[in-house]
Amino acid sequence: MSWQVLASPELLVLAAAALTAVLLVLASALKLYASVGKGKCTSSADMRGKVVVVTGANSGIGKETALELAKRGAKVIMACRNMETAEKAREEIARTSGNQQVVVRQLDLSSMQSVRGFAEALRRSEQRLDVLVHNAGYANTFSKQVTGEGLEVTMATNQHGPFLLTHLLIDLLKSSAPSRIVVVASELYRLAGLDVANLNPVRGLPAYLYYVSKHANIVFALELARRLQNTGVTVNCLHPGMIDSSIWRNVPFPLNLPVKAIAKGFFKTPKEGAQTTIHLAVSEELEGVTGKYFMDCKEHQLSDAVKDPNKGKKFWEESELLVKLKEDDPHI
Ligand SMILES: NC(=O)c1ccc[n+]([C@@H]2O[C@H](COP(=O)([O-])OP(=O)(O)OC[C@H]3O[C@@H](n4cnc5c(N)ncnc54)[C@H](OP(=O)(O)O)[C@@H]3O)[C@@H](O)[C@H]2O)c1
Repeated sequence: MSWQVLASPELLVLAAAALTAVLLVLASALKLYASVGKGKCTSSADMRGKVVVVTGANSGIGKETALELAKRGAKVIMACRNMETAEKAREEIARTSGNQQVVVRQLDLSSMQSVRGFAEALRRSEQRLDVLVHNAGYANTFSKQVTGEGLEVTMATNQHGPFLLTHLLIDLLKSSAPSRIVVVASELYRLAGLDVANLNPVRGLPAYLYYVSKHANIVFALELARRLQNTGVTVNCLHPGMIDSSIWRNVPFPLNLPVKAIAKGFFKTPKEGAQTTIHLAVSEELEGVTGKYFMDCKEHQLSDAVKDPNKGKKFWEESELLVKLKEDDPHI
C-alpha cells in the first residue's frame, strides 16, 4: 500500500474517529470507576471530648478529615510541615466548623528528630489521644532525595516517620482506649513489593518507592494491629480512591498536563476522598474492628503478599533499627 493511500483524507478521518471513540470509552470507564466507588461515611458519631491528630491536615484529604472531625466537636491537632498553609487551613476549619479547638503543630515526618519533638510536645500538652490519623503522604517522580539523617525521603515521610510517631504516642493511645489508629495507604500497593532487608532504598526510583511505601503502610498496619490485640487500640488502613489533590504536584512537565486534566475531570474531590478515613475514625460500628483494609467505607480483601506475619515481624524489627528506637522509648 502506498503512502498516498495511507495518508488519504478518508483514512485520516477514519483514524481520528477511531481514536476519539477509544478516548471516549476510556474516559467513560474512568468516570464510571470514579462514580461507582463513592462511599460515604453515614455515621453521625459525636466526637466532643475526643482528641484527634491528623497528619498532613493542611491540604487534600487530611484537611477535609480535620474539618469533619472539628464539625463533630473533637479537639483537632493538625500535624503539619508547612506552618504557613497550615495556619490558613486552621483558620478556615475553625471558622467553618465553629470549633475553636483546632490547633496546628509543626511536624516533618521525614525527620525523626522532628517526630520526636512533635511527640514530646503533644505528650506534655494532651491528657488523651483518641484517634491518630496517619494521612500525610509524599510522592515524587524522579528526583532522589536522602534526608540529613540518611533516610530516603519517600519512605521516611510515608512510613518511617509514622512508625516512630506511633511508638512515641502509643502510651497516650492506650490510656485513652478505646482508641483508634487510621493509616491512609493506597491500592497502588499492589504494584510493588517490600524488601524487608532494604527498608531504606536510597537508590530506588522515587515514583516506584511511593508504591513501596504504600505497601509498607499496609504491612505496618496489619503488624501493628497484631501487636495491639487486647489493648483497646484498633488499627485499620484504607485506600481513599483516586483524588484530585496536590499529591500529583511533583509530576514533571509535560506529563503533568494529562495527569491534571484526568484528575480534574474524573477523580474524586478531597471531600469525597476523605469519607473512608472519617468512617474509620468515627463510626460506632467499627468499635473493636482491627487489622482490616477499607475502600469506599467498606472492607476489602488484601493480597497475600501483605498479610504474611513473618514478613510483618521482620519488617518491625528492621524498622526499629532504622528509626533508632531507643531502649527507653515505648516498644510495641
Ligand atoms: N490523591 C490520591 O489519589 C491518593 C490515592 C491513594 C492514596 N492517597 C494518600 O492520601 C494521603 C493524603 O494525600 P492527598 O491526596 O490529600 O495529597 P496532598 O494534598 O498532597 O496531602 C499530602 C499531605 O501530606 C503532607 N506532607 C508531605 N510531606 C510531609 C512531611 N515530610 N511531613 C509532614 N507532612 C507532610 C503535605 O504537606 P505539605 O503541604 O507541607 O506538602 C500534605 O499536607 C497520602 O497518604 C496519599 O498517599 C492519595
